[in-house]
Amino acid sequence: MELTWKGKLEWLVMAGFLYIINAHVSEGGITSSFLRSYNYSLDMPLDSDVFRVPPGYNAPQQVHITQGDHLGKGVIVSWITQDEPGSSTVVYWAQDSQLKLQADGFFVTYNYFNYTSGYIHHCTIENLEFDTQYFYEVGIGFTTREFWFKTPPPVGPDVPYTFGLIGDLGQTYDSNTTLTHYEKSPAKGETVLYVGDLSYADDYPFHDNIRWDTWGRFTERVAAYQPWIWTAGNHEIDFAPELGETRPFKPYTARYHVPFQASHSTSPLWYSIKRASAYIIVMSAYSAIGKYTPQYKWLENEFAKVNRKETPWLIVLMHSPIYSSYVAHYMEGETVRVMYERWFVKYKVDVVFAGHVHAYERSERVSNIAYNIVNGLCKTMNDQSAPIYITIGDGGNIEGLATAMTEPQPKYSAFREASFGHGILDIKNRSHAYFSWNRNQDGCAVEADSIWLNNRYYWTHSDEASLSELRHHEKVKQLAEA
Ligand SMILES: [Fe+2]
Repeated sequence: MELTWKGKLEWLVMAGFLYIINAHVSEGGITSSFLRSYNYSLDMPLDSDVFRVPPGYNAPQQVHITQGDHLGKGVIVSWITQDEPGSSTVVYWAQDSQLKLQADGFFVTYNYFNYTSGYIHHCTIENLEFDTQYFYEVGIGFTTREFWFKTPPPVGPDVPYTFGLIGDLGQTYDSNTTLTHYEKSPAKGETVLYVGDLSYADDYPFHDNIRWDTWGRFTERVAAYQPWIWTAGNHEIDFAPELGETRPFKPYTARYHVPFQASHSTSPLWYSIKRASAYIIVMSAYSAIGKYTPQYKWLENEFAKVNRKETPWLIVLMHSPIYSSYVAHYMEGETVRVMYERWFVKYKVDVVFAGHVHAYERSERVSNIAYNIVNGLCKTMNDQSAPIYITIGDGGNIEGLATAMTEPQPKYSAFREASFGHGILDIKNRSHAYFSWNRNQDGCAVEADSIWLNNRYYWTHSDEASLSELRHHEKVKQLAEA
């Protein structure tokens, strides 16, 4: 049938109308219809190739690196020797340089119930050149092993940089797939932001710390070559008074050192770093968070001192999400939200990454900070000063996926899906970054969800819809203060 021009116009108007209706309907958020073949995965057996002990007497194993200072010119190299302490020295040299340098570290050991650790070495290399590839060697004196890393560019507002996001990884076959997908991602993450829950050793009888060692060997293939920025989760607490183990975070803090003193923190469980154009604040949901506590006092100074003209991208990492619509762990982050959400809004945090819930979820920009006990204003609302909250606890651990979701999907939830995977945050410049999520069932280059992030500091108030939200927010704030 041939349509007249009037018919064509009517058809176009109708199509546009239907499009608007459809967009409106999906405004409340998307629950993915992706179908999984299974929800649970087993830990890889102890004799798996990914857990293989490197050959040679006293060969260094479980090699991993993290940032070693506040700016990115330092690297902490950590590894374990099993037979005897050996050397804690790292020999390193810049690519194309004959000059071999060395840095001296130290080692620690610990006991946990009936387990005795190997010799855990930590060595901080300082004053490296920015944007330079370095080779390094550990195991000096016996079996040496060589690795490499690349330092980030100097800190600055328009420095592009790509972060990987991994959480709740564990050591199952799915964990292996997640790590492989990250390695093979064409987005090429340069540093991993790890949102907590590492080995899940505490799921074994007596928190079998051998599973800490297997996890260290499993992740070495990535963690020896690029920094992992560590966040402590509940599976790092290892508090077991029934086993006589009463010092929280004992295995985690012995094995994973972070540069907390460089940001004037008094605990390795909360600290900050600058890297390229990002300022990253790591919080501990499982430490004291109340007013006047060490973490509170540190965060109070920390948020206020971030210079967004230097590092426009303000990113917070913590383990427990404060906006999640899954049944598992629902509202577990509420105490953190009550204490700190107002600072996330006040200081215009761009994005908060969390794990804990074994699934993926991305929020709208929302806040719920107007409540003052008597005003009744306890309601989540759109807020362009608020961060986007991304839950990425979908690394693939032995506890399986969190498939049960609260219904109906709350408005704050923009997209949710219970599948294993990882994320990539690709910062382009001071104003734009691109976040994407890859699910393990897809090819490494496939994005199952993605969003462009407009930097909150450089966000302009030109968008009328955003302006009206801002006005609404201001009005509520005035009401709350009244
Ligand atoms: Fe957790």
